[in-house]
Amino acid sequence: MNISAHALIRLMTPADYSAAHALWTATPGMGLHSEDDSPEGITRYLQRNPESCFVAERSGRLVGTVLAGHDGRRGFIYHLAVAPDAQRRGIADALVNAALQALRVQQIQKVALLIYRDNHNGNAFWDKRRFSRREDVYYRDQWLKPDKFHTDNR
Ligand SMILES: CC(C)(COP(=O)(O)OP(=O)(O)OC[C@H]1O[C@@H](n2cnc3c(N)ncnc32)[C@H](O)[C@@H]1OP(=O)(O)O)[C@@H](O)C(=O)NCCC(=O)NCCS
Repeated sequence: MNISAHALIRLMTPADYSAAHALWTATPGMGLHSEDDSPEGITRYLQRNPESCFVAERSGRLVGTVLAGHDGRRGFIYHLAVAPDAQRRGIADALVNAALQALRVQQIQKVALLIYRDNHNGNAFWDKRRFSRREDVYYRDQWLKPDKFHTDNR
């Protein structure tokens, strides 16, 4: 556990799902997927990445999340979010610091994330963190399940 000036930062567990999901659904710009972000999907992610996903708490209330994990080579960050009434207090900074340190401990050299181009607050945050914008690559992807699962487009 790590206590920043404004929040307690601790590892996320499946028991945090309800509060975390409520935060994500209330956060504009968060790309949510019906299966990946279901209780089973998030539990699967936490079991695979048990040391690198964190929540922030203020007075016992969950006010922030970051999901970070790796595939043995690159780290990836999802679902960085801080509740509106807790923003601009360094809580996202503290969450990201905890996640990056956890990835470093696991010998990961580089970390990436996806963010919508029109997410101005999010991009301001990552610019401040000096996360590069890659203009020289395409992000390519493909669904691995049949069409009925593709309503999310995320
Ligand atoms: C982006 C987000 C996580 C930042 O959370 P936060 O706790 O407010 O961020 P911090 O207080 O740690 O900000 C650290 C620095 O990032 C920059 N920053 C953060 N939010 C900013 C904003 N809205 N506008 C401009 N700069 C911003 C600032 O330089 C800030 O330092 P400062 O407050 O001393 O100026 C939060 O706005 C959020 O949850 N947004 C919705 C979800 C989202 O967009 N997530 C990112 C997608 S990956």
